[in-house]
Amino acid sequence: MTGPTGTGRPDEGTSWRRIGRRYSCPLLVRQFPPELPFGFLGRVAPPSSSIDLAIEADRIPAGRALEMVHGARAVADAELVGGGAGAAVPELEVERRSADELGRALAGRFQELWRVGIRWVANGPSRTRGEAERLRLAERLASLGFRTRVPRYEVAEALAPPAQGAVRRPSGYWQTLTTDGLGAFYPFGDETVLDPGGVLVGLSLSDASPVFLDRWAQASHSWGVFGTTGAGKSFAAALTVLRTRWLRPETELIVLDPLGEYSGLVRELGGTVVCLRDTTAGRLNPLDPATTGGDRREKAGRVVTMLRALWPSLRDEEAATLDAAVSRLYDRVGPEPTLGGLADDLARGGAFAGRLPALLEVFRSGSLRGVDGPTTLRVDDRTVSVDLAGLPDEQLPFHLAYVLDWAYHRLSTRPGPKLLLLDEAHLLARHDGTTEFLDRAVRHLRHFDAGLLLLTQDPDDFLSSPSGRSLLRNLSACAFLRLTEVSEACRAFFGLTETEAEWLTKARLPTDAGYAESLWRIGAWHLPLAIVASTPEYELVGAALGGERHPAPRADGAAGGRGL
Ligand SMILES: Nc1ncnc2c1ncn2[C@@H]1O[C@H](COP(=O)(O)OP(=O)(O)OP(=O)(O)O)[C@@H](O)[C@H]1O
Ligand SMILES: [Mg+2]
Repeated sequence: MTGPTGTGRPDEGTSWRRIGRRYSCPLLVRQFPPELPFGFLGRVAPPSSSIDLAIEADRIPAGRALEMVHGARAVADAELVGGGAGAAVPELEVERRSADELGRALAGRFQELWRVGIRWVANGPSRTRGEAERLRLAERLASLGFRTRVPRYEVAEALAPPAQGAVRRPSGYWQTLTTDGLGAFYPFGDETVLDPGGVLVGLSLSDASPVFLDRWAQASHSWGVFGTTGAGKSFAAALTVLRTRWLRPETELIVLDPLGEYSGLVRELGGTVVCLRDTTAGRLNPLDPATTGGDRREKAGRVVTMLRALWPSLRDEEAATLDAAVSRLYDRVGPEPTLGGLADDLARGGAFAGRLPALLEVFRSGSLRGVDGPTTLRVDDRTVSVDLAGLPDEQLPFHLAYVLDWAYHRLSTRPGPKLLLLDEAHLLARHDGTTEFLDRAVRHLRHFDAGLLLLTQDPDDFLSSPSGRSLLRNLSACAFLRLTEVSEACRAFFGLTETEAEWLTKARLPTDAGYAESLWRIGAWHLPLAIVASTPEYELVGAALGGERHPAPRADGAAGGRGL
């Protein structure tokens, strides 16, 4: 089988080819594993090895792709009817389910099907070294679940360079993959993610390439950030704010800040901090009809939602009485309605009002008397945060609800791009009414050129209610930082693989790494990214957020450590 040696002409054996001093040993893929871990290419073909990977991919037209998926489902159906001859029933059911999911993804254009040919080539200075390299490659691929084969007597077909159309390839060379499956072989992002006009969201954990995202180019301008305590959510949000401002200085910012963490940052940006526990600076009247542009009926509905968030134990008949009293208040023409006015109305209701007058007394003489009265607060700055620190925990959903109402009005009436940052968003997920309001707000924000940055520890906070799920569906990007656990519901909702879910519970924390490891889900893309601050950003955000100082990234802005 061997030909003349020492020349530039190819010399070929049953399973290798030599050109000059280089022996090339091809390896084909017979079957792909169902899932692949991040950065698997780096493990399969480490820089110390001499391995090439060639990929040919042709897009399968959408109509044909759907036909193929329907065909696969029909086969699974027929076999299930026949009692699963040849394959186990659970496997057929999985096949049927995944054909359905894929059919939906194809119809929704989240995925496409590709005819893909993949060829690995192990190279060596001698035949034995080349073949040994190929053997190690096959072992590494097998450990990831790939099934491979050495193309014997088909070396020319396996190694022929791609040519327009008609190169003969070894049997079994062509496979069908989804966009996600094909994407796993590309360690860098796609042009849809690399929005040149966007902000830097992180560096790819596999090759440190930067990923930019432009929220204003997405149908929804809202993003979510999830992660356990200390995972780096507030820091990531502050970085996003800074970078957004840098790119679009005209962007207005409102921060709803339950823990009072952002005051330093907002002051650094020249903005105003509204401290709710200090009512001397001015009052926001939760009942101010201006927040719905004078729509008193809409306002009455929101007021009932706020009050129910304050008293979640209200019985249905009490809620109905409250609802009627609030409606009466807004039907009356006169001065701006106040909570004291509502308390007076209910006090006149006698026995009908049950325990409501006693509850409303809190606005007259109790801890919430600061919110009784017309709005006196005026803020003209384009950067403002509302600091809720120091208020009783059980009152936070109420305060957040009327502040959100005020913020929503501000966002809907002021021109230009706007960002609303809501930290500790789980406080609004405690009650159906406030979750519904937040969901509606997110759906409408984009009409006002505004986006929400929603931060919460656990995505499950929002997964348990229909409006919470609707809200999550309307986030165009979700960043998952370290999570304590990833529930099955969360995995299914966000389409996370088991490997991704497990990785998230081990993602590195900024306290250990100096940057935050994260997984970004943007449309159908799942990108593992390091959220890294440059030194000046770190100095500004780290100090302004008032947190404990942690090791800064290296001066060149790159983070050291795993995967970078
Ligand atoms: N990307 C990062 N690079 C460097 N340091 C970071 C990064 N992210 C977070 N940190 C640091 O880690 C600490 C915790 O971060 P952060 O406060 O943002 O966590 P969190 O997820 O908001 O936690 P919590 O749920 O308790 O509010 C802070 O001291 C912060 O300065
Ligand atoms: Mg935080």
